[in-house]
Amino acid sequence: MSNDPLLQPYQLKHLTLRNRIIVTSHEPAYPEDGMPKERYRAYTVERARGGVAMTMTAGSAAVSKDSPPVFNNLLAYKDEIVPWVREMTDAVHEQGAAIMIQLTHLGRRTRWDKGDWLPVVAPSHQREASHRAFPKKLEDWDIARIIKDFADAAERMKAGGMDGVELEAYGHLIDQFTSPLTNELDGPYGGSLDNRMRFCLDVFRAMRERVGDDFILGVRYTADECLPGGTGQADGIEISKRLRDSGLIDYLNVIRGHIDTDPGLTDVIPIQGMANSPHLDFAGEIRAATNFPTFHAAKIPDVATARHAIAAGKVDMVGMTRAHMTDPHIVRKIIEKREDDIRPCVGANYCLDRIYQGGMAFCIHNAATGREQTMPHTIPKADIRKKVVIVGAGPAGLEAARVAAERGHAVVVFEAANNPGGQIRLTAQSERRREMISIIDWRMGQCEKLGVTFHFNTWADTDTIAAENPDVVVIATGGLPHTEVLSNGNELVVSSWDIISGDVKPGTNVLIFDDAGDHAGLQAAEFIAKTGAKVEIMTPDRSFAPEVMAMNLVPYMRSLQKLDVTFTVTYRLEAAEKSGNQIIAHVGSDYGGVAKQRTVDQIVVNHGTIPLDDLYFELKPGSKNLGEVSYDELISGAPQTVDRNPEGSYQLFRIGDAVAARNTHAAIYDALRLAKDI
Ligand SMILES: Cc1cc2nc3c(=O)[nH]c(=O)nc-3n(C[C@H](O)[C@H](O)[C@H](O)COP(=O)(O)O)c2cc1C
Ligand code: SF4
Repeated sequence: MSNDPLLQPYQLKHLTLRNRIIVTSHEPAYPEDGMPKERYRAYTVERARGGVAMTMTAGSAAVSKDSPPVFNNLLAYKDEIVPWVREMTDAVHEQGAAIMIQLTHLGRRTRWDKGDWLPVVAPSHQREASHRAFPKKLEDWDIARIIKDFADAAERMKAGGMDGVELEAYGHLIDQFTSPLTNELDGPYGGSLDNRMRFCLDVFRAMRERVGDDFILGVRYTADECLPGGTGQADGIEISKRLRDSGLIDYLNVIRGHIDTDPGLTDVIPIQGMANSPHLDFAGEIRAATNFPTFHAAKIPDVATARHAIAAGKVDMVGMTRAHMTDPHIVRKIIEKREDDIRPCVGANYCLDRIYQGGMAFCIHNAATGREQTMPHTIPKADIRKKVVIVGAGPAGLEAARVAAERGHAVVVFEAANNPGGQIRLTAQSERRREMISIIDWRMGQCEKLGVTFHFNTWADTDTIAAENPDVVVIATGGLPHTEVLSNGNELVVSSWDIISGDVKPGTNVLIFDDAGDHAGLQAAEFIAKTGAKVEIMTPDRSFAPEVMAMNLVPYMRSLQKLDVTFTVTYRLEAAEKSGNQIIAHVGSDYGGVAKQRTVDQIVVNHGTIPLDDLYFELKPGSKNLGEVSYDELISGAPQTVDRNPEGSYQLFRIGDAVAARNTHAAIYDALRLAKDI
């Protein structure tokens, strides 16, 4: 038996957990009609297969109709959920993992214009900044109704074969009761800590009566809101002890912070560029103060930190949630002593940011996550070994190389630069985004193990390709910054990438015209503003940087606001003209009727990239498929069979930004779904 602290079993009441790593509850927004159907099940089972001790499903499954989904949550208030839950729990148990579900009433953390259009409820009329709904203040009959809803939902989950239920308290209705900041009730549920905790304990009592003792109940709650006047650290320890002493629950799952604003949420679930494991010591203090089973997750992305969390007695079970979205097979790889092969979570938060915009959670660099029904996490070998030549060693090219090599093909990669990474290497030059380089480093490590041949500093042309005598050629040459967006004066502007790469020195009074709205614009702005320059970001959109999304925006804003960067929305840079050593920027608006000017010494345009596709078009005539991709075959997961040119000697494909400017996830998904069938 291994002596790795992470691989030791843990006895949680009657439940034996096979190791110390859990996936904490999170809603990937995969439900269909509010039910955990095939996609949800496949995603959940993959993590169980990968060896995790317990997978905690359903961030915040809703127990009541007046807690309508805000990110496609499961509807635990419907009886029809039971058979779906049963199929999922049976499949997870077959893999030897335990499975729990998180139940919630969102309280004010939702909206009234969703679901059944019922008023949002909370223990006060104060609205939550993030969801903006002004709540109805709860009445006695609301409270009784919701307590019963929790008990009904817990009973459904037990009937569905769950090992237990966790209450999502933090930021949701339960902690809205507990926090003095959000509870303005009189009577038995407002005022003293006893009264403010009454709702939580009444809910647990009602659930325990329904589910009996042989069922795990736990709570995920904030033990320190980090807000003036809110639940503080001392209160948190007192609350933790009272929860323990209630005798109603089996573990504590500790959160530190508040989630009513984007910045608050981002401190609870930190993203790339923010410190790792920021609340682990705090969770350890709660464990020490309560001597009670303690769980915790918050940016513990690597095995070494997780191991430390257990070995040092900080927690009993360590959550590696996003880490499992990036690599569902972490535990298996630890057991097989292949920790180097674990695909690292880079904290990009593409996963979480997407669900708040109504999308499904996808991992920025594992395109199989959430697509387990069609995309493999483990690539099967091909029947026939082919020669695959790839041009470009950015994320798309490297993913194609990795996957093709896993298939057993002979893979050669040509890259014009002296190192791999493309735009990601530039992006990772910002301190805030340096973790992105692991997307490249992990793929290079995998490719080296798989025997991929790399030629750097090599500008591949048709002769270079022909000399390889390939069966398949994949063009992943990416794109070049696209700045030709003005009616006049295009020669006067530089691109955001010129700034990020350091090729162009920042000016002192700079206008950034950003209508791509992605990271590059903000990265360039930060880079320039840090030199002490005056910076204005202008966009024709209704809001700036729409592609950056909520949590990713937080660290930028913390920096850019301090640097006094200004934001101008709904205006468009139309032209530029030289005036001495200054540039006059002519500004209009898509709404019409305005013409303004700015005088600056530098204009930066952020407008995505234009494909670098010359080689593709040169290779097209010699290919069997003339570059054509069958979208039906691509989408259904079948090998490409287009054969339009009897003279052709290879299949030709292009992927990533070499087709059109998109993002890292799209580039990697392009590569995976094509290369897995080569
Ligand atoms: C897509 C996504 C959805 C999440 N939804 C919930 C949720 O509904 N309830 C919850 O308690 N935590 C939720 N979380 C937070 C995770 O459980 C976890 O606390 C967080 O990701 C930090 O841990 P990690 O750094 O190991 O990922 C979510 C996380 C992700 C990535
Ligand atoms: S998108 Fe980023 S944070 Fe989310 S799982 Fe993937 S690597 Fe981790």
